[in-house]
Amino acid sequence: MKNRVLEKFAELFGGDGDIRTYFAPGRVNLIGEHTDYNGGHVFPCALTMGTYAAARKREDGTIRFYSMNFERAGVIATSLEDLVYREEAGWTNYPKGVLWAFGEKGYRIPAGMDLVIYGDIPNGSGLSSSASLEVLTGVVLRDLFGFEVSQVEIALIGQFSENNFNGMNCGIMDQFASAMGKKDHAIFLNTADLSYEYASVKLAAARIVIANSNVKHSLVGSEYNVRRRQCESALEQLQKVVDIKTLGDLDTETFEAHKEAVADPVERRRAKHAVYENQRTLAAVQALKENDIKAFGKLMNASHVSLRDDYEVSCPEMDILAEEAWKLPGVLGSRMTGGGFGGCTVSIVETDCVDDFIQKVGGAYEKRTGNKAEFYVVDIGQGAGKL
Ligand code: GLA
Repeated sequence: MKNRVLEKFAELFGGDGDIRTYFAPGRVNLIGEHTDYNGGHVFPCALTMGTYAAARKREDGTIRFYSMNFERAGVIATSLEDLVYREEAGWTNYPKGVLWAFGEKGYRIPAGMDLVIYGDIPNGSGLSSSASLEVLTGVVLRDLFGFEVSQVEIALIGQFSENNFNGMNCGIMDQFASAMGKKDHAIFLNTADLSYEYASVKLAAARIVIANSNVKHSLVGSEYNVRRRQCESALEQLQKVVDIKTLGDLDTETFEAHKEAVADPVERRRAKHAVYENQRTLAAVQALKENDIKAFGKLMNASHVSLRDDYEVSCPEMDILAEEAWKLPGVLGSRMTGGGFGGCTVSIVETDCVDDFIQKVGGAYEKRTGNKAEFYVVDIGQGAGKL
């Protein structure tokens, strides 16, 4: 992969000088969905799939971008003086946003660069191809220009740029997972204060299987920002009756005792999901520590039901993938992962049953939807860095 990006770089921009290569992974979230902007916990892990870059500093203020995933877009050029969102700039709005965000955070970028990227995460699949591109850009900028920024700061800058440059009000989970991932571990992150610990996910006799519905989601155009506002509104109403900073501060009993404070039943269901999902995440991590992978899987299933019914961010295709998985022996748990409205499910499947799982879930999915699903039996990889 690295060599392909280097070859393309040489072909487009010449092969001399100090050309450096980098990688930032995508992520899959095992449990803790739509909790990261509610002060709750998440449990994602970095994938070995991600985005690669080759980059070289320039003397002037020009920036030239090229993506091997969008070859038809060709080389897209801009300059340090023109770091504004433009529709026609397509995918380059993500790296541009990060260049802009570095400036906003006080890191003045002294010169332009040439950048070629290639990603092997399917776009719009809910596996954070955009967060990986943001974190990748952060890592490139730090290294090329010698900024002293930590991995966590790079994650925060990526989120800041996605919120304020690309208009998607995402939480911190995706960028954090891409920057801070650790091989064979998931990250148990408290989004209220960014404290985290790594939990080993070396499953003795099971694999993590991602099923891509191939229904593309577009979170900016979708209901993501609406969900955020509904949670904020529910929180404001609950704060009149309980002393909390976020929905993540509530346990299920306290929520049940005070839920009538949320007048609108839809907002009440949104808050219910946020509270219960956070508690499920705490329970799931505990179960994993006790090696109770069965209990972990059951919590994953419950997470899907809550995302489907209370949070309403699933879609018929992802429901089919999860339902078909639940029917099979050897499936410990299965749920939609990521923002929703399309994308992927994540399942924990006993190693011996993986082939059968792919065949049966894939077959049933095609029969019921007329479309083909794709499957990835994944490994948990390292966070972003220079290669
Ligand atoms: C998207 C966002 C994340 C998180 C998830 C839902 O992936 O980017 O911040 O909110 O949705 O858990």
